[in-house]
Amino acid sequence: MDIQEHRFDVAIVGSGGAGLYAALEASAQVPTAVISKLHPVRSHTGAAQGGIGAALGNVEEDKPEWHAFDTVKGGDYLVDQHAASILVEDAIKAVYDLEHRGLPFSRLADGRIAQRRFGGHTREFGKAPVHRSCYAADRTGHMILQTLYQQCLQHQVQFFDEFFALKLCMEGERPQALIALEIATGALHIFYAKAILFATGGFGRVWRITSNALANSGDGPALVARAGLPLQDMEFYQFHPTGIRGMGILITEGVRGEGGILLNRQGERFMERYAPTLLDLAPRDMVSRAIMSEVLEGRGMQGSREIGDWVMLDASHLGKEVVEKKIPDIADFCRTYLAIDPAEAAIPVQPTAHYAMGGIPTDTHGRLTDGHTIYEGLYAAGECACVSVHGANRLGTNSLVELVVYGRRAGLHIAEYAKGCEPSHHSVREEAQALQAQLEGTSARGEASATQLYSAMQNTMTRNVGVFREAQGMQQAVQEMTALRDQFLSVAIQDNNANYNLDRVAYLELQNLLDIALMTAVASLNRTESRGAHSRVDYPERNDAQWLKHSLLYLDKTARNQVDIGYREVDVSLWKPQPRRY
Ligand code: FUM
Repeated sequence: MDIQEHRFDVAIVGSGGAGLYAALEASAQVPTAVISKLHPVRSHTGAAQGGIGAALGNVEEDKPEWHAFDTVKGGDYLVDQHAASILVEDAIKAVYDLEHRGLPFSRLADGRIAQRRFGGHTREFGKAPVHRSCYAADRTGHMILQTLYQQCLQHQVQFFDEFFALKLCMEGERPQALIALEIATGALHIFYAKAILFATGGFGRVWRITSNALANSGDGPALVARAGLPLQDMEFYQFHPTGIRGMGILITEGVRGEGGILLNRQGERFMERYAPTLLDLAPRDMVSRAIMSEVLEGRGMQGSREIGDWVMLDASHLGKEVVEKKIPDIADFCRTYLAIDPAEAAIPVQPTAHYAMGGIPTDTHGRLTDGHTIYEGLYAAGECACVSVHGANRLGTNSLVELVVYGRRAGLHIAEYAKGCEPSHHSVREEAQALQAQLEGTSARGEASATQLYSAMQNTMTRNVGVFREAQGMQQAVQEMTALRDQFLSVAIQDNNANYNLDRVAYLELQNLLDIALMTAVASLNRTESRGAHSRVDYPERNDAQWLKHSLLYLDKTARNQVDIGYREVDVSLWKPQPRRY
C-alpha cells in the first residue's frame, strides 16, 4: 500500500484538552496538524467530571498561593514548585478564557461561576475545605472538550482523525517525523514536522479496574520511551477512591464536595479516623488507602473473589433536587449500571486506576528535558506529560487545570520554535516501509493471544502494583511484564483486513501498555519509601533524605527488557517538605 507524506511545521499527537488548546495557539501562527486515533470529541478529557480548580473566590475568600500550597502538599512535596505557581496563577486566566470561548459553567444566583469543594483544596494552608472547583454540573471535562473543539473548527485547525501514531523518528536529539497508521484504510502516513507535541493522555488500561477509556494505552509515553528518551516518576499512579464497584467507572469527588460521605459495613464514617480535619475531602491517595484499610481489616461490604470488597458512598441525604441538578450524570450512571437512585440509596464504590502523575518529562514550556538536556522540538502536555505539578499525588481538578494551562503554554512555545528553525530534509521512508512489513508479518506468525496477554498484564498489575505495594509482589510484576513483552513478539493478528482493523489497533495498544507496565513496575520496586500514591507496606515512611528526587526511566537502552534508572532534582524553592497531616 502506498505510503503518503505530509509536511507541517508542528504535529500534535492527541486531541484531548491539552492537544486542542496547544493546536489553537500553534495553528494561529504556523501550519499545524492534529493527529489522533480518536475523533476529538471522544477524547478522555470528556470523562472528567467534577471541575477545574481556580482561586476565583466566588463563594468564599481564596488565593492562588493557597491553591499552590495545597498542590505541593497534596503531591507529598515531589511537586516542582515554580511549575505549581504558574499552574495556579494561570488557572484563573484559563477559566475566564474558557468562559469567554463559550463554556457553559454552572452559575451562582448572582451569575458568577459556581464553585464547589474538592479533596485537598483548603483555605489558609490547610485549615478547612474551600470552594475552588469551577464546574459545569458533573460534565466539566465534556464541556471543555466541546468548547475547545468548536474553537479549533472555527480557527480551521487541520485534523487527521483516527490515525494511530506508530513511531517517533529522531535525527540525533531532534524530532524529524511521526509515522502513523490511518485506521480507516490501513495506509501508513509520514508527518514530517519541525516540532512534535505529544498530548495522548493516560494509561489506566494497565490495570483491570479503571476509570479510563479503552483508548488510554499510553501511546505517547511509549513512543517516546522506544525512541530512547526518558519517562519520569512512573511509580506514581493515582487510584481514585470512588469507582463503581467492580467496573471502575468514575463517581466524581464532586459527590463528596456536595456533601456525600463514605461509610463502612458498620455504617461508620471511617474518614474521621484517617483525616480528622478534611474527612471525606482529604487527598485521593489518603482516601483510597483508608478504603483499602477498611476492606483489608474486614469492615468493607463483602464482594466476590473477583471484584473484592467495597465501601458505600452515601449522597441520599442531599435530596433529589441537588442530585439531579449538581450530579445528573452520576445519577444516570447509578441508574444504568447499578439500578439504584443515589438520591435514595448509597453507591457501592472501590478505588479505581485513574491518573498518571508520571510521564514525559518537560520544562514549564512543555519541552522534553531530563533536567540537563532540552530536546529541542519535542514537546508534551496534559496527562502524558510530567511537568511536574502533581508530584506523588494529584489533587482533584488539577488535571483540567494542567491541560489548559500547560497545553496553551506548549502551543505558544512550539509555534515560536517552529518559526525559527529549518525543516529536516532527511527521509524516513525506509523506516516507514520496515514498519509496514512488520505489521503485515503479524498475521502470519505465532499463537500467543493478545487478549490473554492483556488480561494477564491487568491482573498482575492490579494485584501487585496497586494502592498498597510490597517488594515481593512488585518483583513478580517485573518478571511477568518481562515475560509478557517476550510473548508479545509472537502474537498473531487474526484479522487481515486493511480497513478499520481493530484487531491491529488492539495489538498496537497492547505493545504500548506492556512497555508502560514494565516501566511502572520497575520504578515502583526501585523507590524504597512511601510517598503520595506510592504506598509501600515494607517501607511505610516518606524518606526525604534519600528519595526527595524524581526518577527517570529508560527502556531497552542497555539491553532488551532492561529499565535503566536516573534521577533529577525536585524544585522545593517555596515550601520545604513537612509531615503531611489533614
Ligand atoms: O472526581 C472527579 O471528578 C475527578 C476529577 C479529577 O480527576 O480531577
